[in-house]
Amino acid sequence: MKFFVDTAEIAEIRELAETGMVDGVTTNPSLIMKSGRDITDVTKEICDLIDGPVSAETVATDAEGMIAEGKKLAEIAPNIAIKVPLTWEGLKACKTLTGEGRMVNVTLCFSANQALLAAKAGATFISPFIGRLDDISLDGMDLIQEIRQIYDNYHFSTEILAASIRSVNHVKAAALIGADVITAPPNVIKALAAHPLTDKGLDAFLKDWAKTGQKILG
Ligand code: E4P
Repeated sequence: MKFFVDTAEIAEIRELAETGMVDGVTTNPSLIMKSGRDITDVTKEICDLIDGPVSAETVATDAEGMIAEGKKLAEIAPNIAIKVPLTWEGLKACKTLTGEGRMVNVTLCFSANQALLAAKAGATFISPFIGRLDDISLDGMDLIQEIRQIYDNYHFSTEILAASIRSVNHVKAAALIGADVITAPPNVIKALAAHPLTDKGLDAFLKDWAKTGQKILG
């Protein structure tokens, strides 16, 4: 399973990249707004840090505009994945851009039928938003499961990028279902390593070690 980090904060991406946990990055207009940075500058910096796909989102609402914006964003670096929304215009743009050999991430997916359309339009990634479905009392994981089954039934190569991940339990559930990628905020990725028994065990080992009076180095 690939891990993408869902942020436009360079320091956070750098810190996680040092652990080898970052296979890619996703950004969106809200994350760019939060960073307070210029989209081209910050996206270029991210692409310099990370070799894997870096999603940069278009904001036009017509296919022609999305294609033009997508091409401009793709000039930033070869590892840009152009993000387009799951609308008919977005699907048209996806078909054109992937036909030219570019990576496209179709975002804002909330149904299995939408995901089916994205795969037929040749999307590189489909981004179903788990947390936002949970927010309205639906089960985002049911959607991941349905898309997995549909893509497997027809051998679509579009990768399922489980997005809007809000908790470590979301990560585990997406991994059990077989999502190809998760994108999560840095705090969720970091929390995956936490366990109270690890902390307790380490504390006990260190206390016993101190009693031996030994040193491993010197
Ligand atoms: C994914 O590409 C989106 O940027 C992101 O996962 C949205 O998450 P949110 O619903 O927590 O804003």
